[in-house]
Amino acid sequence: MKASRRSDVDPFRAMDVLAEANRMIERGEPVISLAVGQPAAPAPRAARMAADAHLTRGRIAYTDALGRMDLRERIARHYEEAYGVDLDPARVMVTTGSSAGFNLIFLAAFDPGARIAIASPGYPAYRNIIRVLGLEPVEIPVGVESRYVFTADHLAAAHEERPVDGVLVASPANPTGTVTPPEELKRLIDYADEHGIRFISDEIYHRLAYTGGEATALAFSDAPFVVNSFSKYYCMTGWRVGWLVLPPEMVRVAERIGQSLYISAPELSQVAAKAVFDATDELDRVRDGYAKNRDLLVEALPRLGFRDIAPIDGAFYAYAAIPEGHASASEFARTLLAECHVAMTPGIDFDLTRGEGFVRLSYACDHADLVEAVRRMEAHLAR
Ligand SMILES: Cc1ncc(COP(=O)(O)O)c(C=O)c1O
Repeated sequence: MKASRRSDVDPFRAMDVLAEANRMIERGEPVISLAVGQPAAPAPRAARMAADAHLTRGRIAYTDALGRMDLRERIARHYEEAYGVDLDPARVMVTTGSSAGFNLIFLAAFDPGARIAIASPGYPAYRNIIRVLGLEPVEIPVGVESRYVFTADHLAAAHEERPVDGVLVASPANPTGTVTPPEELKRLIDYADEHGIRFISDEIYHRLAYTGGEATALAFSDAPFVVNSFSKYYCMTGWRVGWLVLPPEMVRVAERIGQSLYISAPELSQVAAKAVFDATDELDRVRDGYAKNRDLLVEALPRLGFRDIAPIDGAFYAYAAIPEGHASASEFARTLLAECHVAMTPGIDFDLTRGEGFVRLSYACDHADLVEAVRRMEAHLAR
């Protein structure tokens, strides 16, 4: 049977590295993975206890398609506490991870063929979700010249060349860790609002900015779609729960689509998610661990010969050009995995044109593991 034309999207190649690393681990080889974008820490204790208590009561059911009201209210309160933004809980929709949130936005706000601007390098699922839904990704190269920040000038140049219908910006970003300065975020949103471009702000790495400068798009306008998740700072990847803040006129639209696509996000995860807003001490300790890992890489990467290193301002990624003398990032990553048992992600996942010169290292791991990974790389690269 023939697959549909729109299903012809790239694989997530990081998963191939991961599969090989897992095979090696199963064979008892001492692999350290810097390949996956997920916290090594478990969900906070408060979340696990809330889930436990709910499980004991027994009934786990569908919720409203927009999510449990107590969680939507708690998320709205978070905007007041964290950003001083007054948010009506009616605009919050709980989703099955931010991944489901993207589907809902693209379906609610765009017709087939719409053009969506995204930064390259960028999170590969953006390109794939946009394509699979019959929209067109417009990939805009960013690099050292703008500190890997996707700027309003980038957006204006693309829009003037051929109009775009939407723009998706992540700050902090994956794979570069770049934080968009608040004044640049405002310029982007102002440009989008003035030109009728829908602005989507991926804020999944919020609370993981190490040099400050984190702002929510909602501080500047009510027009953007905001995407967030409990996966990263909150350490709940496998619980599959995230949220959207929608422009008021889009709430009912997203609700109607969500009712049919997903019915609701898992109730047990929603109950656990509400409790993590009270686990800040525990989560900040995890974040402090990332900050320590970041400091180690800031010092070690140039010494190891990595070049064009993205600013490492936020999230838990370092993105850098591979040391000279290696044919490609795929080859470099394969060699490091085979010879020093350190797994990292070749940049080709994130940037189809320039990615073979770059790798992404995730430092959401234990500090001792990162120290050992750096030691092994150093010994290998000095050869
Ligand atoms: C930038 C970015 N957005 C969204 C996601 C999706 O996360 P989730 O569906 O777990 O919320 C990821 C996952 O790595 C990501 O890096």
